[in-house]
Amino acid sequence: MFNLSDTDLDKNIISFGDGPASFNSELNNANKKCISVDLIYQFSGAKLKERFEVVKNQVMKQVRNNTDNFTWKNIKNPDELEHLRINSMTNFLKDYEKGKIEGRYINHALPNKLNFEKQTFNLGLSSHFLLLYPNLGVDFHIQSLNEMLRLCK
Ligand SMILES: C[S@@+](CC[C@H](N)C(=O)[O-])C[C@H]1O[C@@H](n2cnc3c(N)ncnc32)[C@H](O)[C@@H]1O
Repeated sequence: MFNLSDTDLDKNIISFGDGPASFNSELNNANKKCISVDLIYQFSGAKLKERFEVVKNQVMKQVRNNTDNFTWKNIKNPDELEHLRINSMTNFLKDYEKGKIEGRYINHALPNKLNFEKQTFNLGLSSHFLLLYPNLGVDFHIQSLNEMLRLCK
C-alpha cells in the first residue's frame, strides 16, 4: 500500500493507529523493526479477537453493499479482502502478546505525546486512521499530525 522499498523497510519505523494489522509482525519475522501505536493495545489478544469477529460481519456487509466504491485491482473481490484481513488478524494475534512485552505494540491515544524524543524515527506510517473519524474534528487531526511530525524525520 505504501510502496515501501527494501531500504525503507530497514529504517526505524513507527506506525500510528496500527490496529490489528500484520505489518509489525511481518517486519519482525524479517528481523526488521516497527513500533505500532494504538489505543486498542490496552486490550488482551482474546478481547481483540472477540471484537474482530463481531465487527467483521458488519464491515464485510457494508463492503459487499458498496462494491462500486472500491477499486478491485490488487484485491479482486470482497471474499479475497475478507480472507486477507482474517490472515492479517491471525498473524497479528500470534505476535501480539510477545510484541507487547518487547515494546513493539504501545497502548497510546493520539494526539497525546508519546514517550520518545523528537525525530526518533526515520519513517512514520499511518493507514486508515487520519480522516477516518471526522467526528474527532480538525484540532484532533492537526495535533495528531504535529505529534507524528515531532517523532519522525
Ligand atoms: C481502521 S483501523 C486501521 C488499522 C491499520 N492501520 C490498518 O490499516 O489496517 C484504525 C485504527 O485507529 C485506531 N485509533 C483510533 N483513534 C486513535 C487514537 N486517538 N490514537 C491512536 N489510535 C487510534 C483504532 O483503534 C484502529 O485500530
